[in-house]
This record gives sequence, structure tokens and C-alpha cells, in this order.
Amino acid sequence: MTFSFLITIEIFANIEDEEDIFSRSVSEYQKADHLLGWIDSRSKQSLNGAWHYIVDPMDIGLPESFFGGFPKNKVQKDGMELIEYNFEKAKQLQVPGAWNSQDEKLFFYRGSVWLYKKFTFSYKDDSLTHLYFGGSNFRTKVFLNGHSVGEFIGGYVPFNFEVSDYLEEGENFLIVQVNNSLNESTIPTQRTDWWPYGGLIDDVYLVSTPDKFINNVFFRLVDHETGRVEIKAQGSSDQRDSRLKVSIPELGFIKTFKFNQNNFISDGFNINPKLWTPEEPKLYNIIVSTQHDSISDSIGFRTIETEGKKILLNGKPIKLKGISMHSEPIGIPGPAYSLDHFKNLLKTAKSLNTNFVRAAHYPYSRQLAKVADSIGLMLWEEIPVYWNIDWNNPGTLDIAIEQITRLIQRDWNRGSVIVWSVANETPFSSLRMNFLGEVISKVRDLDSSRLTTAALLSGDRGEFQELMLALCLLGVNSPEVSDKEKIIFKSLLSQAGLDSKTKVQFKIEVNDPLGEIVDLISYNEYFGWYYSLIFADQLKVKESTLRKLMFDLIPTIEITSAFDKPIHISEFGAGAKFGLHNEGKIWSEEYQEQVYKAQLKMISKNPHIQGVTPWILKDFRAMLRPLAGIQDFYNRKGLIDEKGNKKLAFDVLKDFYAEEWDE
Ligand code: GCU
Repeated sequence: MTFSFLITIEIFANIEDEEDIFSRSVSEYQKADHLLGWIDSRSKQSLNGAWHYIVDPMDIGLPESFFGGFPKNKVQKDGMELIEYNFEKAKQLQVPGAWNSQDEKLFFYRGSVWLYKKFTFSYKDDSLTHLYFGGSNFRTKVFLNGHSVGEFIGGYVPFNFEVSDYLEEGENFLIVQVNNSLNESTIPTQRTDWWPYGGLIDDVYLVSTPDKFINNVFFRLVDHETGRVEIKAQGSSDQRDSRLKVSIPELGFIKTFKFNQNNFISDGFNINPKLWTPEEPKLYNIIVSTQHDSISDSIGFRTIETEGKKILLNGKPIKLKGISMHSEPIGIPGPAYSLDHFKNLLKTAKSLNTNFVRAAHYPYSRQLAKVADSIGLMLWEEIPVYWNIDWNNPGTLDIAIEQITRLIQRDWNRGSVIVWSVANETPFSSLRMNFLGEVISKVRDLDSSRLTTAALLSGDRGEFQELMLALCLLGVNSPEVSDKEKIIFKSLLSQAGLDSKTKVQFKIEVNDPLGEIVDLISYNEYFGWYYSLIFADQLKVKESTLRKLMFDLIPTIEITSAFDKPIHISEFGAGAKFGLHNEGKIWSEEYQEQVYKAQLKMISKNPHIQGVTPWILKDFRAMLRPLAGIQDFYNRKGLIDEKGNKKLAFDVLKDFYAEEWDE
């Protein structure tokens, strides 16, 4: 009796009572491992392709939800099991890719989607297997054969988990929950002027390494005259018996290094490489090996630094003749991820006679910098600390630090990358200074060889007052302005103690306190686009009057900064719908062309401006841009439209970079 009685107690003890089902604790998840570097040279099995997916707006699929959720992937055995999901019967989408651009019902969707992939696997002896995600937006939970593998919080950057113990010989199933919702405490927040594409937006691989492997290696040319190169290398555990061999066949260079007790190497050597430049993007094949592991990469050697208000590439002053972009292919909806996507985008950028691209607002696929390395374009890479974020939240800082760390550890051997940007248009505050100060010191810990920056707003509010008065001075003397509006301008001038004879001049000094810390003073300005709208309401004059006056003012604007550092105009631009030519009115190609002509005249007359990345190469998806018939949820400031059609302003910028802007 006792034995069966105990069994009965055991069974009943396992049956959860009602409130348990409704109040199960939220699962704990493993964090991702150290980033596995040099991924393209490692042996790997691709899991790209068609994945089944189930949309889950109420997160019923989580393990702690009713009946255990989806990760176990329960299947019917005898037709009598109550299972309320079936991945094999569900629709499919392509990975890499976003659900927003593959299922029209999910165009605006911001929530959870479960993705399922069945695959076969065969073991290799004494090797480890790592599940590697190139990028997933924005919160990812991973389950392999029903086991909880881990969770990664933050989009756009790669992460990996060692999964050897969860794999089966033969058939396996991988289930991933991806959630692309954002809030005021995520990075980015829920309010962005680009599309929050959700899903596995980059490659998914099973990467195999020896059990003793080389985790990552960073080479940096620290002196372009002596050819001094620093190497930092991290091995997996127990490398005491390993020697790291570096070979650069084309230079006839071979040298070995010893790991320290932390399986780490920090050392240096001298070579005499042909230096990488945009005109001659020379790359060297480098093989790094131990007796257990071998990885390789193509690396360009160059130095980038500032000297006062100048930017020096390999010790020579250079102007950054750039263009901004988003990570969307030309002519294909959704996020960019493939080599071809970026070859097409960067070929188009280079055809503007550029030598530089601002990869705005978030980390792109690793393919961007690989293409830039080979075709010769310098890059600005960035994390999405965008507009106002939750500056005082340690969890928010963790996401930003995680993203910049992984971006740097992935791309630190890309000679094309010369700038790490930590923020865009973030309002002044001490909390913001503390937050960005932490991020910038993390950048410098990881890589002090590149320039740091953030796209800043202009200085204090006073500037807009002066801008308005400059427009009033132009207005009172303009034959095209009505008497009624001249009266308004005159009264404003007299309130400011000015009369109509005062010399028109408008000077901006960028004095954001962040300028003390960063290397490059980057500044976003929209003269010719946004400000007239604001002033027209305040002054009660026609916006068209102010727009016309602005075109006279822009070429005379002086831009300086409160710091002895190079100035870079990180954004200027105007919207235009391709094919619209309504006598130069707003949204016409001619209006955008006029803004570019005025802006570039101003830039050429400001000697301290050492770089410019106009906003933007291509029209891009944005929920903030609903204007039917013109925007249709695209931001139309592109020099080409989403299909690649060139607008008139394209050639204005191309010609400017070809001749007018001297070195
Ligand atoms: C801002 C912002 C961009 C935005 C652009 C615009 O400066 O940095 O993300 O798309 O202006 O208004 O089009």
C-alpha cells in the first residue's frame, strides 16, 4: 500500500493547481557567449533559407505560458493530443529577412514572432558547435531541440551560443522567438525615423571550432611610417600549450606569439605594407593559426587621426566627401544583408565621387564594411542611441555598451571603418553626458585607433533667434516681400534694437559639451528644409516667403565650433518625390536641387568643415512619413528613390565632389 500510495502522492504533487498555471515565474535565460570573430573563414553550416513562422502577439508561446508554450514543438502522435500550434503547417519566410517586408499583414507589426527551422547535423569529433546569429531585431530567445539555449537583448549586432550539448546526430529543430517591439528604455526607443524591421535580419550559422579555438584577433597599424602593428588576440580556455602564428604571405611575414595565463596576447610587430586608401584599397590575406585552429581574413592597413581642425589619413589631410545611408537594398523591400545588396549600394554611393559613407543610425551587416574595404570607401558606423532615451536606466546603458562592443569586435579589422559614432541628435543633459561618456570610454578601451563622434544638434536656443533676425533683415530689404510682411519683420528688428541697415550675418558655433570628449565635431542641420516651417508659425508670415529668403541666407552662414577639432556636417537635406517637377515647389526635385546648391556653396566657404554626409543616398521606409501620394511611409530625402531612380540633386553633389571642394 505504502509504495502505490507514495506514487499517487508523487503524481498529484506534479499537477499544478490553478493559480500556478496563471502565475508561473518567467524563465531565466543564459546570456550570449563572447563574440566569435573572423566568422567568414570558419567552417560552418548555414541555416539560412525558408523558416516556418507563427505570429504571437500575446506571447502564448513562451515556456512559462499555458501548457508550456512552443519550444518543445509537441506533435500529434495519435490524434488525441490537444496541441494549439503546428510549425510544420505554418507559413514560411526567408531568413535573413524581416517579416514586415515578407508578409503584408506584418508590415507595421511590432511584437513577437516564432521562427522554426528543422535541420540535419552530424558530429565531428573533438569539435565544438556554436549557433551564430548575424543580427536579430530586437529581443531574441533561442531554443534547440526543446532546450532553452539563451536570450540576446538588442538588435543589429551578432551573437552566438555554444550548443554542442543540445545537438542530436541527424534531425534537429531550432525554435527562435524574435520580438521587435521597442519602448522608452530600449536602444533604439520605439520612436525612430526608420523602419523597425523585425526578425532574423542577418545570417544564421552553425559554426564548428576545435575545442581549443582562437576567439578573436585585432590588428591595428599604429604608425604608418614605421609600419608598427599591434596585435590583440583572445583564445578560448586552456591555450597554455598553444602558440599563435601570424602569417602575411604577400609580405613574407611570419611570427609566433605566446598566450598569457588568461589565454590572451597583446604584442606588436613591424611590416612594410602598401597603405590602404579609398583610391588604392590594398588588402592583405592574413592567416592566424595555432596547432588546433586556423582562421584568415583580408585586412587593409592605414592610420586615421586628427590634427587640430584637420583629419589625417596615413598622415595626410583628407576631406570626407560623403553621403549618409540606411541599411535597405536598392529596389528590394526590407533590410539589406547580402554582399550584393551592399555592392549595389556602395557602387551607387561611390558614383557620387565620394570617399566616405555614414552608415546611419545602427550597426549594419558585416558585409557593408567588407565591401567598403574592397571598393575603397571609408565608413562611419553607429549605434542607435537616437534622440531622447532613458539616460538614467542601467539596463539601457547595458544594451548600448553590448551593441558598441560587438560592433567593434566584429569590424575592428576593417580598414574602411574610420569612425565609431555613439549617438544621434541627443538633447543636452548631465545624465546624457554620463551615459555617452561611459559608452565613449568603452569604445576607447576596445579600440583607440579610430575617431569617435556623435551627430550633434546645434548649440543653445539663441541661435534660432539670430537665424530669425537674419531672415528679417533679408526680408525688409527684399523686393519680393509684401509690405504687410515687411512691417512684421521691421517690428521684430526694432524689438531687437536692429535697423534695416544692419549687416546680415548668421554664425553658428557648435558648443555641445560632448564636443570636449569626441574626436570629430559632427553636426546635423536642415537649413532650407525644417526651420522656415517653425518660424512661419511664430512670425505669422508665409512659409514660402521665408523659404525664398533662406536660399539667399544659406550661402552666407558661418559654421564654427567651440573646439579645436575638425567639423563634419553629418546631415543636411530636403525631401523630393522622384519625377515631381512642380515649378520648384516643395517636394519637387528642383526644390531639393536648390537646397543642395545653397548648402554646398555654404560648405565650400567654411574652411573648418572637413567632411559632409548629406541626408541621404536613398529614400527609405519610415513610419513618421505618412504623406499620401508623396511619402507613403517613405522618407523622401534620398538622392535616388527606393527603386534607384536618380533625382536632379544627385548630379549636384557628384559635381561638387568631383571638382569644387579642394583638398
Ligand atoms: C534627423 C535624423 C534622421 C532623420 C532626418 C530627417 O536629423 O537624424 O534620422 O531621418 O533628420 O528628418 O529626415
